Amino acid sequence: MWEETPTARLREAHKSRDDLIARWRLLLGADSLRMAANDTTGARMKHFTRYTEEEVRRLNTLQAAYFSKNVEIFEPPLPEGVPERLERIVSSARIEPSDSVLDIGTGTGILLSLIQQYSPTNIYANDLSEAMLDFVRAHYPAANTCHGDVADLAMADGSIAVAFINACYSNIIDKHRTFTNLRRMIRPGGRLVISHPLGRAFVEVLKSNVPFPLDDFPATESEAAELFAPYGFRVSLFVDQKELYLLRLALEA
Ligand SMILES: C[S@@+](CC[C@H](N)C(=O)[O-])C[C@H]1O[C@@H](n2cnc3c(N)ncnc32)[C@H](O)[C@@H]1O
Repeated sequence: MWEETPTARLREAHKSRDDLIARWRLLLGADSLRMAANDTTGARMKHFTRYTEEEVRRLNTLQAAYFSKNVEIFEPPLPEGVPERLERIVSSARIEPSDSVLDIGTGTGILLSLIQQYSPTNIYANDLSEAMLDFVRAHYPAANTCHGDVADLAMADGSIAVAFINACYSNIIDKHRTFTNLRRMIRPGGRLVISHPLGRAFVEVLKSNVPFPLDDFPATESEAAELFAPYGFRVSLFVDQKELYLLRLALEA
């Protein structure tokens, strides 16, 4: 019988997260997933899937509701090795004190304390889910929260030096509008870090567990280069390890 208390909910949430991770570790050893993760010859995504405005709205509403109900899943204790990989992700952006930093799909703000260590001028935390942002406001008062789809963020042109999309790239429905908007908001020479601290194959396991579509990460450096060149970004770092995906893009000056 489901015991509806905060502790029980937290226990249950972590159990389902840990189940997913255990299944993914099992699958990582399986031939099919290994092939999917290593395949560099198959048909690759050269441009983003386009959805109608109505579809984007519907899927974003679904995601906001889903994540608002699952805030606890993203809280510590984090799976083994993840804290170290998150540090590596944040350090790859080479944040300077004069920078403004945007964390897209911030969730519970798992990157924010790591970003704070670099003392940037401003930190913006964006998410579709108000419940996630409530959590961020309670735990990271120094961050400025921005509710809504990243595709619609209205920050000034060239005002962002560094943007992170950690464990959220697959979730962004309207990628064409998102990367067009990021090109406008990020300053020339700025960095956009797209990452997953459990590796890109983890998305395969998630796909059958969520009620919205999830895109694959670009599987090779050349695929990433081709995908993001139309938006003015070039690949400056590409790491595709079993348990770490790290793609750093630089906006051409
Ligand atoms: C899997 S969680 C990851 C959260 C966090 N980045 C982390 O690493 O723990 C994905 C988050 O992205 C948010 N999200 C999904 N699509 C978004 C979009 N288009 N714009 C802003 N946030 C989005 C979701 O609401 C959710 O909180």
